[in-house]
Amino acid sequence: MAVADLPGDAIAEVYTAAFAEPPYSQQRDKTERAMALLPTIAVQPGARAVLARMDGELVGGAWGWRTPPGLCAEDGPYPRRLYDGIGVALGGADAAERLLVGRFEVSSLFVHPDHQGAGIGRALLTHLVDGTSAWLLSWLASAALPAYRRWGWRERVKFTSGEADVALLTIEEVPG
Ligand SMILES: CC(C)(COP(=O)(O)OP(=O)(O)OC[C@H]1O[C@@H](n2cnc3c(N)ncnc32)[C@H](O)[C@@H]1OP(=O)(O)O)[C@@H](O)C(=O)NCCC(=O)NCCS
Repeated sequence: MAVADLPGDAIAEVYTAAFAEPPYSQQRDKTERAMALLPTIAVQPGARAVLARMDGELVGGAWGWRTPPGLCAEDGPYPRRLYDGIGVALGGADAAERLLVGRFEVSSLFVHPDHQGAGIGRALLTHLVDGTSAWLLSWLASAALPAYRRWGWRERVKFTSGEADVALLTIEEVPG
């Protein structure tokens, strides 16, 4: 679905609950900041989102966009310094461009804690990426990291980004 069509208030509830858990332990103000980025995300190249519902109730979501030349748009949702850090970690801006430009950047993935461990996160990620090549950042401390590896994502590099130690993972396009 289009990012512009996301039901902001319902998403904010689920997002807050998912990221309130360790290792994130985020407060509600971080949700407000994340939700405020959605209009900018909606206009990124190839932006799309998926939602998961159970009995009509929103239980999870995911979204992202296709990485443009330069790794981010001038007016993109995240600061240039994030992508500069990724470039340094990958051995330089050229290497980062070769690896990431054209790949789908998974920027958010979350499932309400009451519904985690039931396969919803994997299904969201599968539908969002939809067989294309993609990349994402995962906190090293996140329980999601070993799951990404089991699901076929390849860890490329670990580095410190802002407040967290993270890993950058990629997945290749599924032929056909
Ligand atoms: C990461 C997240 C989206 C995964 O969603 P999910 O619905 O729990 O994922 P799934 O049920 O599809 O898969 C979870 C995997 O972790 C494993 N797991 C182990 N302990 C678990 C736990 N306490 N809770 C959930 N999954 C657990 C499951 O066995 C599964 O692995 P498998 O597919 O190899 O069997 C969800 O846990 C979440 O929202 N976490 C908080 C936010 C977050 O970390 N987002 C990702 C940022 S990179």
